[in-house]
Amino acid sequence: MTANDSPYTAAATGEALDLAGLVSLMHLEFDGEQLYNTIADRIAHAEAAELVRRNGREEAVHGERLIEVIALRTGAPYQPEQRGTGNELELPETISAKFLLRVAKGEHDGGAMYQTYADNEPNEEIARLLRQNGREEVMHARRVEQAIEMIEAAAAG
Ligand SMILES: [Fe+2]
Ligand SMILES: [Fe+2]
Repeated sequence: MTANDSPYTAAATGEALDLAGLVSLMHLEFDGEQLYNTIADRIAHAEAAELVRRNGREEAVHGERLIEVIALRTGAPYQPEQRGTGNELELPETISAKFLLRVAKGEHDGGAMYQTYADNEPNEEIARLLRQNGREEVMHARRVEQAIEMIEAAAAG
């Protein structure tokens, strides 16, 4: 997930996430899996890459959790036609610490966004699922920060 997409900024309005916002967020979460896998492929440090890949697996879980949220919101079973926006991901060929710091910032922002949406959410079960995603985004930020430390420690020899 990236920090500048519309569902994030909409959190500030004090409204609950509407259906369009949920669908758009769900696709971003599924994109997140591919994003992290691509980043991991470009990280030479095996242990750091594995931390990043673990985040990716959980982004797919976040997407599935939002599918559940959409079903709760509409009151009908929901199956998306695709998982992800289908947009091509733009990532640097070389993953720098600076880039990873931006990813970590995006995760912190994502965590805060989910908490805000959960606070604005009248449906308790939906709020619970949003909070769970939010807590995990903060954990993702920590993992990325940990990966940066590993890479920098290895580089320092
Ligand atoms: Fe996520
Ligand atoms: Fe995340």
